[in-house]
Amino acid sequence: MTYENIRLEHDGAVATLTIDRPKALNALNNKTLQEFEAAVKSLGADTRVLIVTGGGEKAFVAGADIAEMSSIAEHPEAQKFAELGHRAFALLESLSIPTIAAVNGFALGGGCELALACDFIYASEKAQLGLPEVGLGVIPGFGGTQRLTRIVGRARAKELIFTGGRIDAAKAKEIGLVLEVLPAAELLAHCRSVAAKMLKNSPLAISTAKRVIEQGADKDLGEANTLERQGFAELFGSDDQREGMKAFLEKRPAVFTGK
Ligand code: CAA
Repeated sequence: MTYENIRLEHDGAVATLTIDRPKALNALNNKTLQEFEAAVKSLGADTRVLIVTGGGEKAFVAGADIAEMSSIAEHPEAQKFAELGHRAFALLESLSIPTIAAVNGFALGGGCELALACDFIYASEKAQLGLPEVGLGVIPGFGGTQRLTRIVGRARAKELIFTGGRIDAAKAKEIGLVLEVLPAAELLAHCRSVAAKMLKNSPLAISTAKRVIEQGADKDLGEANTLERQGFAELFGSDDQREGMKAFLEKRPAVFTGK
């Protein structure tokens, strides 16, 4: 499939999805969100890590497309746009493989929300993150009020959302929004090196870990730990479990199949 506003590249088991509309700082219009959704849906079982980044020098994604949004006059049309963004990011979040946001510049509004829907965020030194929607007379509409709150806590989320301010990568790391800050030229290489470490491990175990972390996050500790026990037990008898333990005992690297 050919896309106009995104690029999907495969390097072995690592796919890189680039929002590539630099003339509008990669702003998310309807078409871009639809292409994003189609690209995520197109990922096959051979893809084991997804990196999401922005095209051009300046931006990861500078938000939903304000020019396009400004023509929305009716509540139902706004609801439809929010639903498209929510659906696309929920699809990303539901992937069983690790997803990494490589935030290479402005990640504002819908761009910050896109990064928040990934498993974790690495940022370049020049990145700036924020949810400036209240300055436009709206609120974050692609999950920002909820996902940011779950990551940095209510008070930090309220501070960022109510002020509409931008924070730099160092501050974003300090509040736990970004895991690491890298020189711009090293950001993608860092993401790929983390991906390479994950590729050495069992895909089945990683997807199970991701599932129990995600499903457990909104449950009380007792219920969440039940999910962990079930996930742990389910892996026994799998090819990956047998191979992983056998390889350890035979003092050789494991060769996992994800089965
Ligand atoms: N939508 C549409 N176009 C955008 C855009 C956006 N979110 N962000 C930037 N652009 C466009 C600009 O209009 C400009 O286009 P022209 O060259 O045709 O004028 C081009 O990208 C370059 O932008 P700037 O000239 O503004 O670049 P700058 O370096 O001076 O500023 C910036 C960069 C601080 C990121 C600034 O562009 C900006 O504030 N952008 C908007 C950020 C924003 O408010 N995002 C939230 C959107 S609302 C949202 O996302 C709702 C939601 O949750 C669903």
